Amino acid sequence: MSRILVLHPLPPGGDDPLTEAEHEVVTLRTEGSAGADRLASLLPDFDGLVSLLTDRIGRDELAAGAAGRLRVVGNVAVGYDNVDIAAAEELGIAVCNTPGVLDDTTADLAFLLILAAARRSSEAEASLRADGWPGWDLLGYLGQDVHGATLGLVGYGRIARRVAVRAAGFAMTVLHHARSDTGVSGYVADLHDLLRQADVVSIHVPLTDATRHLIGPAELALMKPSAVLVNTSRGPVVDERALAEALHAGTIWGAGLDVYEDEPAVAAELLSAPHAVLLPHIGSASIQTRTKMAQLACRGVCEVLAGRSPPNRVTV
Ligand code: GLV
Repeated sequence: MSRILVLHPLPPGGDDPLTEAEHEVVTLRTEGSAGADRLASLLPDFDGLVSLLTDRIGRDELAAGAAGRLRVVGNVAVGYDNVDIAAAEELGIAVCNTPGVLDDTTADLAFLLILAAARRSSEAEASLRADGWPGWDLLGYLGQDVHGATLGLVGYGRIARRVAVRAAGFAMTVLHHARSDTGVSGYVADLHDLLRQADVVSIHVPLTDATRHLIGPAELALMKPSAVLVNTSRGPVVDERALAEALHAGTIWGAGLDVYEDEPAVAAELLSAPHAVLLPHIGSASIQTRTKMAQLACRGVCEVLAGRSPPNRVTV
């Protein structure tokens, strides 16, 4: 039996793999991020850790854990930019994530943001609730058509491909950009070409040194004045200040964001920007998917502790 520290309550059934393997599970009610000092003092006493994307798990915390009994981190997220993967590898700590189980749910939300930003639905509903509805208006809340528009996917991994499936139902032309040729029709080698052509740009890349501020002032300047930018990946992929400026200046038309540079803070310039739909990082937030994510992360922890290398183990 191993000891597993779960930093936050999981959805019901989420820790089943841990209890079925008869591990001792200690679940905390951590607010926000666990905090470096707290983690460093707790981790040496546990064989496994189950964390969320809000927990910063850096070299020092991992080293403290490795000096004790820590052997595996199961991060309940597909993204793992919150964990120092290189340090974990050096210290012999396995890291598992949750690929595959959230693709459709996140693609659903990306499409929701595409539609909501293009059709101004949040703004229209907020006005109805706050001020009442003065009556049907031929010129009210005019947005951009999504059907028949050109969708530019930045990144062409599993989630982007599921967004493309939804776009087909809206008769969209789908282009995509990735670092290497995907061999799939619609591939655009130059990101700037894609940005010039797309009516809707949806971002689906992990956060790495290469993708930080991938979309900055120069990229935004290439987009059409009628274009909508959607980000369900990681906030720092987009230069948020430049995006807010582009929205305020009307050099792009709208944005749908689920992620932010400095979560949970949302920049005031974005809150006041026109045609911006802002959600609190809920891309994978369905009961079914969050349960599957928790179970997958916990299964990874069990597999590593049983001496196996699960498919959801992250490699450098
Ligand atoms: C959510 O953002 C995730 O990485 O799972």
